[in-house]
Amino acid sequence: MPKPRKNRESKDSAAALESVATLYRKPIQATRGGPLFNAFPYPTKISPETIALFIASHTSPGDTVLDCFAGSGTAGLGAILCGQPSDRMKQDAKALGFPVKWGPRHGVLFEIGVLGAFIARVLCSPPDPVMFLNAADAVLKDVEEQYIWLYEAQNPQGHTGSVRYIIWSNILRCPSCRKHISLWDACVSRDPAKISGIFRCPKCRHESNIDDVHRVTRNQSDDILGENRKSRLRRPVWVYGSTNGRTWNRSVQSSDLHLLKRIESEPIPKCIPIKAIPWGDLYRSGYHKGITHLHHFYTRRNLIVFSALWEKVQEQKPELRDALRFWLLSYNASHATIMTRVVAKKGQKDLVVTSAQPGVLYVSGLPVEKNLFAGLRRKLKTIFQAFEITHENESLVEIRNSSSLSTGLPDESVDYVFTDPPFGGNIPYAEVNFLNEAWLGQTTNIADEVIVSRYQGKTVGDYRRLLYRAFREAYRVLKRNANATVVFHSTSARVWNALRAASEDAGFSVTCASVLDKTQGSFKQVTTKGAVRGDPLILLSKIQNQGSRIPSEDMWVIVDDLMKQAALSHDPIELTPQRIYSRLVGHYVACHQEVPISAGDFYRQFGKRQTQS
Ligand SMILES: C[S@@+](CC[C@H](N)C(=O)[O-])C[C@H]1O[C@@H](n2cnc3c(N)ncnc32)[C@H](O)[C@@H]1O
Repeated sequence: MPKPRKNRESKDSAAALESVATLYRKPIQATRGGPLFNAFPYPTKISPETIALFIASHTSPGDTVLDCFAGSGTAGLGAILCGQPSDRMKQDAKALGFPVKWGPRHGVLFEIGVLGAFIARVLCSPPDPVMFLNAADAVLKDVEEQYIWLYEAQNPQGHTGSVRYIIWSNILRCPSCRKHISLWDACVSRDPAKISGIFRCPKCRHESNIDDVHRVTRNQSDDILGENRKSRLRRPVWVYGSTNGRTWNRSVQSSDLHLLKRIESEPIPKCIPIKAIPWGDLYRSGYHKGITHLHHFYTRRNLIVFSALWEKVQEQKPELRDALRFWLLSYNASHATIMTRVVAKKGQKDLVVTSAQPGVLYVSGLPVEKNLFAGLRRKLKTIFQAFEITHENESLVEIRNSSSLSTGLPDESVDYVFTDPPFGGNIPYAEVNFLNEAWLGQTTNIADEVIVSRYQGKTVGDYRRLLYRAFREAYRVLKRNANATVVFHSTSARVWNALRAASEDAGFSVTCASVLDKTQGSFKQVTTKGAVRGDPLILLSKIQNQGSRIPSEDMWVIVDDLMKQAALSHDPIELTPQRIYSRLVGHYVACHQEVPISAGDFYRQFGKRQTQS
């Protein structure tokens, strides 16, 4: 007699789950490199090659994958890569023993943000890479011809060359002699590179903690708004350039200041968006003083060059314009604004130039003005290579710039979900992305943004309710017995419990948890106090899994157990408090229990215990 259908189905799905369980046994390395990853910076993005391994193991060719928090579209790229895996991906799948089935998948991506959806669309269906490259080259050449003089500079011997970048400095008022001193002169040394937290006045030798020193502001006329505004006073202090292929650097000299004066009277191209910044959670009254509009994030020189490039794109063929805008924006917020900065790295002979700090709109006391022509030219290669990978793919990836709380997809139409929801209030995506969205002429509608935000009046409870609606929708559209992989990290037990409750209330059962090891931690993970190392990875299933609800144990008994397992791996990272916290959280979520402790408290207690033992 044939077995009852329900029984057989649940046995089949249990066997299917067992076959993908290998994916969750060991931490998965997700390298943060390659042209697809590097084409456009987006906070917390995941390597598309890694996502492809998950999609290819959880689904079959032709299946449909949903990402309800698509960001820059890496799940869509993952679906595409399943149809054209690189040798490296094939080797990884083999080495890890993943049950992959290569072949194109379909993707349906929901992203509420205008920028994320734009990036995803361009990367998943780019134009012909060679046509793109030629058009970009033409845009650069045209604008360079008109504005190359903006970056002219002489080397110390007086030979003309071009600026590579210029370090600017905040101006401070010495608390003792009240003279105006640059942060550069008071706190910076170049060999070895050091940015000191102690202000040392070069005039009167007074010393103070830098936080106690007044930053000088000034009234500046703004010819775009036609008004005066008070903002922090900044001056250029050090120039890095090159002449006939040889690099040099020197302090700012009168020719640089004359050039700046000339730029002051150069008109700004008409296309710049005159947009007030919808400041929210990220506004800081100190370093954002006077920054009320988009254009205040630029030096005048870079504003002119960027707008001229933007304007030129409009003259290109319509089918190439978005890809060209993608290229310009890939460099915009992170390198073209005054959020670009220098940092002092231990043992280095000079300061290191770096991009904007992701996710915060931070303007440092030593902002950097880069040569946009040189930077954009360098960026072209990566974007060209990325377009070469995805151009002419066989997957059908649909990107919807709308909320995933209500998708309009039919019931049980999706085979698998891979998603990476916003983790609490860590990054206010809509606010961060404004600097690029303003150029696109459209900003994100934040009503449904799943986030904890004081500015938006969204508490952890609201976040949980919004997340619940997204999970409920994912549950509805997923086929019977299908799964969802969720990547998540937070340092807050409350946020973890919101995620756990939202997924359970939606009907999902947590089947297992692991760690996604982003080999180079995202900036916030590396530097935030209480940062979590490795993103916990959770497998949600539509099959109810009540058996795994186990009675609660003392947290330290669980920690000791996790440490014993970690020691067996012989990988020192496994024994770090950050990794143990990720594992601990995974344990509680998989056991359907409240996460009892936030990362900061855990690290403190963990450290105490280690020193006592
Ligand atoms: C952690 S990011 C995803 C990053 C993505 N994995 C990537 O690789 O770029 C979360 C995304 O969810 C988006 N989001 C927030 N609320 C949403 C909603 N209701 N519907 C769709 N997307 C939403 C945010 O704009 C953000 O881009």
